Amino acid sequence: MSAHGDPILMTACKGGPLSGVAEVPGDKSISHRALILGALSVGRTEITGLLEGQDVLDTAKAMQAFGARVTQHGPGAWSVEGVGVGGFAEPEAVIDCGNSGTGVRLIMGCMATSPLTATFTGDASLRKRPMGRVTDPLALFGARAYGREGGRLPMTVVGAAEPMPVCYTTPMASAQVKSAVLLAGLNAPGETVVIEKTPTRDHTERMLRGFGAEVTVEETPEGSRITLKGQPELTAQKVAVPRDPSSAAFPVCAALLVPGSDILVPGVSQNPTRNGLFLTLREMGADIEFLNEREEGGEPVADLRVRYSELTGITVPAARAASQIDEYPVLAAVAACAHGTTTMPGVHELRVKESDRIDAMARGLEACGVKIEEDEDTLIVHGLGPGGVPGGATVATHIDHRIAMSFLVLGLAAQAPITVDDGSPIATSFPVFEDLMRGLGATITRAG
Ligand code: S3P
Repeated sequence: MSAHGDPILMTACKGGPLSGVAEVPGDKSISHRALILGALSVGRTEITGLLEGQDVLDTAKAMQAFGARVTQHGPGAWSVEGVGVGGFAEPEAVIDCGNSGTGVRLIMGCMATSPLTATFTGDASLRKRPMGRVTDPLALFGARAYGREGGRLPMTVVGAAEPMPVCYTTPMASAQVKSAVLLAGLNAPGETVVIEKTPTRDHTERMLRGFGAEVTVEETPEGSRITLKGQPELTAQKVAVPRDPSSAAFPVCAALLVPGSDILVPGVSQNPTRNGLFLTLREMGADIEFLNEREEGGEPVADLRVRYSELTGITVPAARAASQIDEYPVLAAVAACAHGTTTMPGVHELRVKESDRIDAMARGLEACGVKIEEDEDTLIVHGLGPGGVPGGATVATHIDHRIAMSFLVLGLAAQAPITVDDGSPIATSFPVFEDLMRGLGATITRAG
């Protein structure tokens, strides 16, 4: 089934080496947050490098529905005229967040401490995903949520008229949950505290500070204790969105797998809460150079030079899971082409992403002739070595952009072409994926 419109069959097959420059789009997490914080600020926020993927466009529409004025001025150049903290208007219609868990969870957070009601929905993938993980802490502020069985969308959130500040320990490693609580804390009096045992991406904290909120982080025996002083006046900013390491992962991995490849991926965020995949690949023997390391838009970035490499499987430290959580699907594809076994423990959160990504990768890899083992929290891939993956399968992608892109990357290195049953969700995060990959020399085609 397709996210928007008809399914698009896509096929990737073996070809010559990849070369050239891969300019991947803006970071999805930062793009959502730039729109949301722009909407909660006073003045006109100017954003450059915004990801124009469907997930982010859905968040832009939602911010308009809550009263902000969001305008596109050119490719990646957007402005948001905000309404200020506590200034949201009640939306006239249902908020459709499409495929985006980040969009819906962060937006629920930032409306939950205002006296207004909003109803949220999404596509068939998002309607299966658990919202209780955000509505439980939002209830502590005084918000109420009415959804389908199991805390699923569609769901109506009634914001708290007199919100209380909250101290909340996140029960799972989730930046979305942390961010929803912090965004709710903006319109609550006093201090809102989030304690996280495992560090997760910190874009919300960084950007809140950039917009003028007081946010402190203290390391304690219980974990990181993040404190936000409520009811700040956020001031409009200029935000330059760095390129997305989670999108960069696809051309990087493709170059590692296709013999003779040598590519440059410029300006990729190297935020330590996001760069786990690159560390893992280097431990597997990847030839990745980090050039021209610098700071852009408040984030550390580097240009990555990547050359074809023979890789060897490793055990990926479970403690690294949060910093590469979105990259496990493509890592599993890479692991299939490595010598030996790659063991990925501590990955149960993959079961509640756009699809159950452990299951989707396991079934797809098996269909491509790769031996895997899995349990609730672990994926093990028995690599067949360079050129060893038979391929020749059509893989089910379950409305999941990263599953689709991962198998297309694998198809570039497999003996026989690999087809994905629907590539349309790729547009949610990486709308220029096909053109960018073809520009590097990859053979990726659409059926029909
Ligand atoms: C995101 C957090 C992660 C990640 C998602 C983006 C964010 O989800 O998988 O793609 O922008 O906060 P969880 O918070 O569920 O781990």
